[in-house]
Amino acid sequence: MKVAVLGYGTVGVGVYEMLQAAEGFEAGPVLVRPGKEDKPFKVSSIDAITGDKSVDAVAEVMGGVEPAFTYALASIRAGKHFVTSNKALVAAKGVELFKAAREAGVAFLFSAACGGGVPFLHNLARARETDSLLSVGGILNGTTNYMLDRMQGEGMDYAEALKEAQKLGYAEADPTADVTGLDALRKIMLACAVAWGTLPQEGLLNEGIDSLTAADVEDFLSRGWTCRLIAGGSLADDDSVAAYVEPVLLSRGEAECAVLRNNNLARYVGQNSGLIAMIGQGAGRYPTASAVLRDLSGIRQGECAMFPPKVSNGAANNSRESHVYYVRLPKEAAGSLPLQEVLAEDDDLVRALTEKISVKQMHEAVAALRTEGNSVFFAAVREA
Ligand SMILES: NC(=O)c1ccc[n+]([C@@H]2O[C@H](COP(=O)([O-])OP(=O)(O)OC[C@H]3O[C@@H](n4cnc5c(N)ncnc54)[C@H](OP(=O)(O)O)[C@@H]3O)[C@@H](O)[C@H]2O)c1
Repeated sequence: MKVAVLGYGTVGVGVYEMLQAAEGFEAGPVLVRPGKEDKPFKVSSIDAITGDKSVDAVAEVMGGVEPAFTYALASIRAGKHFVTSNKALVAAKGVELFKAAREAGVAFLFSAACGGGVPFLHNLARARETDSLLSVGGILNGTTNYMLDRMQGEGMDYAEALKEAQKLGYAEADPTADVTGLDALRKIMLACAVAWGTLPQEGLLNEGIDSLTAADVEDFLSRGWTCRLIAGGSLADDDSVAAYVEPVLLSRGEAECAVLRNNNLARYVGQNSGLIAMIGQGAGRYPTASAVLRDLSGIRQGECAMFPPKVSNGAANNSRESHVYYVRLPKEAAGSLPLQEVLAEDDDLVRALTEKISVKQMHEAVAALRTEGNSVFFAAVREA
């Protein structure tokens, strides 16, 4: 199988090298920006790839929605199998790409877009064929897990932990998508679509770790809790899908507490299988490239889709799942939330537990408080 590669950055170099080494594969042309064709295998026009009859498949590892979407459609319509590591592309345009691939009779796979090297989506797609999947999710962002690990294990403050994550190449120069939970949200959107055929586009909620302070960490550690940023998706009896990301406080001993540094833990619960969890590298050149190659290998064995045949865009319903939340907020704002227990207070701040309230109600209440200029941290408390 001859594979062209779109993008020659962190993941692209890994994919190219692995294609050269893997038996049964041939590394094809690589798309770079105009002016960067410093080697014979590099091209700067997508036409050089779509018009090349010897290319069987295209691996897109450029990132972003455009021009990746235009190039993806051109590749698919030219009869090339299409694989991608690009969660932004699949979260925004996955249904359109799936339909185009079906029409063209080619494969469309995207394991590397959720869980990096962890074979999560691939296993979800398999499991859904023979089991009813009840929930999906887990720790899907390695950057924030690394930061949480350093803040809780080493007593670092947020800024120090972020600086270290950037120095090690775990966080981008602009870390917004990671620390706000948007990156994990895109991944849970894909997992929901693979599990239940709904790619939620509206009603999604993401809370990250960007309002977490060293004082918050000190407080919840002293109460026996460990914090992880967790993405969750679930299916209700009415077939509506919940999809959200938020910090969660766990009792020590829960599986997620053992996930250290920049690892991921992807999990699903099947009606028959029960809980299945997979731990591994969610990012990095070779772990991510290995997932791209796994998809290509799957295509050689006849795998052609991750989404179920009737996948469609839809809306998330985050009103039906409820949690008790730990919250830190200014004293004068405390009356805005339904609190059941004050854990600590001083002249300015209150730390408290809310009554059990819906995910939607909590995220919206905090968004309103922030609009009024209040600094708030919250995390769901997982019942043991
Ligand atoms: N890095 C990871 O560990 C990881 C893990 C899982 C998924 N992913 C996903 O994989 C994708 C790539 O990530 P990455 O970390 O490899 O990014 P990266 O290092 O920034 O590489 C992207 C490459 O694509 C090139 N590119 C961008 N737009 C282009 C265009 N229009 N034409 C030609 N080349 C273009 C960039 O060139 P310039 O440098 O000239 O802009 C760069 O070389 C993203 O969707 C990311 O979310 C990454």
